[in-house]
Amino acid sequence: MTQGRFIALEGGEGAGKSTQARLLAEALRQRGLEVVVTREPGGTPGAEAIRGLLLHGVEGDDGISWNPRAEALLFAAARSDHVHRLIRPALARGAWVVCDRYLDSSRAYQGGGGGLSDDEIGVLHRIGSEGLLPDLALLVEVSPEVAMERLARRDTDGSDRIGGRDGAYHARVAGAFSAFAAAEPARFTRIDGNGDPQATHALVLAAVAPLLP
Ligand code: TYD
Repeated sequence: MTQGRFIALEGGEGAGKSTQARLLAEALRQRGLEVVVTREPGGTPGAEAIRGLLLHGVEGDDGISWNPRAEALLFAAARSDHVHRLIRPALARGAWVVCDRYLDSSRAYQGGGGGLSDDEIGVLHRIGSEGLLPDLALLVEVSPEVAMERLARRDTDGSDRIGGRDGAYHARVAGAFSAFAAAEPARFTRIDGNGDPQATHALVLAAVAPLLP
């Protein structure tokens, strides 16, 4: 049995990653592959419980919950459980894993946005998940106007603790993602997400094609 492949979808808020994860999984299944679609933070019961702490904070904490380092540790802890319980076993049995966000989101949000160094995020990842990296990170990029329009449609009940941070924070996140893609062109493919879902899906499939058996 050959090891499966691990694809992560990355990018800012409202980029359309979840839709693309679903479309990619369907296309891979049509080729007869076993596919596990998952997301971060989350993907296992333990990691989903941590997701609630991260995105909604803790009652009675004046909306402050989690300084930047505690936040980075919680993401790393959620990822550790997800990697240990779901991702590694799936890859070991030959399944493909399509993950909506992974380590590069921690590098961009807690690093670029929150001010931790890339080395610090890397140390947490080595401890938590023994440094497991995706075979390919697809960076789905949209213009700020498109992102705002999609978020207005999706987050009608208000955004979460992290999505709701100010424009300067999200600009640092976007800058960090594009710097990663420029620095590691072999591991990242940039995807223009401004078009309709099928047009973006075609770009995703072209990026994944070299990994197909
Ligand atoms: P989600 O609603 O899944 O976001 P989106 O649909 O925009 O992808 O919420 C995940 C939030 O968590 C999002 O704001 C990005 C943030 N996040 C981090 O800050 N660090 C991380 O390591 C991960 C995985 C997500």
